[in-house]
Amino acid sequence: MNENIDMTVQLGRLTLKNPVGVASGTFGYGEEYSALLDVDALGALYTKAVTPEVRAGNQSPRLADTPAGMLNSIGLANPGLDSFIQHKLPLLRQRKCAVMVNVAGCCPEDYIAVIERLEQEAGIAGYEINISCPNVKAGGMALGTDPAVVERLTRQLSDRTTAGGRPLVVKLSPNVTDICAIARAAEAGGAAALSCINTLVGMVIDVKQRRPVLAMGSGGLSGPAIRPVGVACVYKVSRAVSIPVIGLGGITNTDDALQYFLAGAAAIQVGTALFTRPETPLEILTGLRAFMADNAIAKISDLPGLLQS
Ligand SMILES: Cc1cc2nc3c(=O)[nH]c(=O)nc-3n(C[C@H](O)[C@H](O)[C@H](O)COP(=O)(O)O)c2cc1C
Repeated sequence: MNENIDMTVQLGRLTLKNPVGVASGTFGYGEEYSALLDVDALGALYTKAVTPEVRAGNQSPRLADTPAGMLNSIGLANPGLDSFIQHKLPLLRQRKCAVMVNVAGCCPEDYIAVIERLEQEAGIAGYEINISCPNVKAGGMALGTDPAVVERLTRQLSDRTTAGGRPLVVKLSPNVTDICAIARAAEAGGAAALSCINTLVGMVIDVKQRRPVLAMGSGGLSGPAIRPVGVACVYKVSRAVSIPVIGLGGITNTDDALQYFLAGAAAIQVGTALFTRPETPLEILTGLRAFMADNAIAKISDLPGLLQS
């Protein structure tokens, strides 16, 4: 029975062999983790953000501990597009899991530059678009907070990817008034799927020093603390659009992952949990198979329909 279970997930024209991925920014480009888990067994590897230019990221301290989570203000630290292609892509190309490149920038032109260049490179399964970045040319407001901007950007990018058939996954921020309006805008712009959610804005203050712990003041909260927010977002968003939703935020074990599937997710990603237990995603994969075998569920895509009202 276990062997006959269908774990595949369809994201546009891309078929993932299983629904478990690792989240952008928590897995680098896969190199460091190679000794800690079988990277090829994952359904998908979402890379750290890639921007046109090399970026050092934000000033330190850029990590802070929080109850049931962590706060980061890494920024978009990455080697830049040329170095990514030269030094990171060759190893990524050898992976047997789907390599999804997380794309970021300070303005729409940055995203376009990355996608246009990567479209010429082999070994990439698709793109995840991080729209939580501040749009420097538009006064610093996060790109992902305005439905019109999100629809336009998604269309500009999807127009440039359809030839290769690589799916565009738009990654939604929970730091908005109406996440469903943003989700619908991304779908209208041609997104093949959505990932849901990025980090929540948070702040930790050192009371002895009387100043924020992070040099940037605030940062992004991740880990189990945000899981109920992520599950609620996936529940709402998956009912607002007809494209697949990839759930993430605070997943640490199979039950956490099942919450996301029952809420409506087609696939999931594991992020912060990797820092303490790198084996988590593959344990979840085994756990999902066991749950499905025990409950006579033949396809992972059947799970979202099983939530009782
Ligand atoms: C240290 C760190 C760096 C991150 N960098 C990125 C990034 O470059 N691009 C992105 O889209 N998300 C980034 N994220 C967000 C994660 O991919 C994920 O959406 C978030 O952490 C929630 O999942 P989790 O609670 O399982 O970590 C980062 C998260 C952390 C903790």
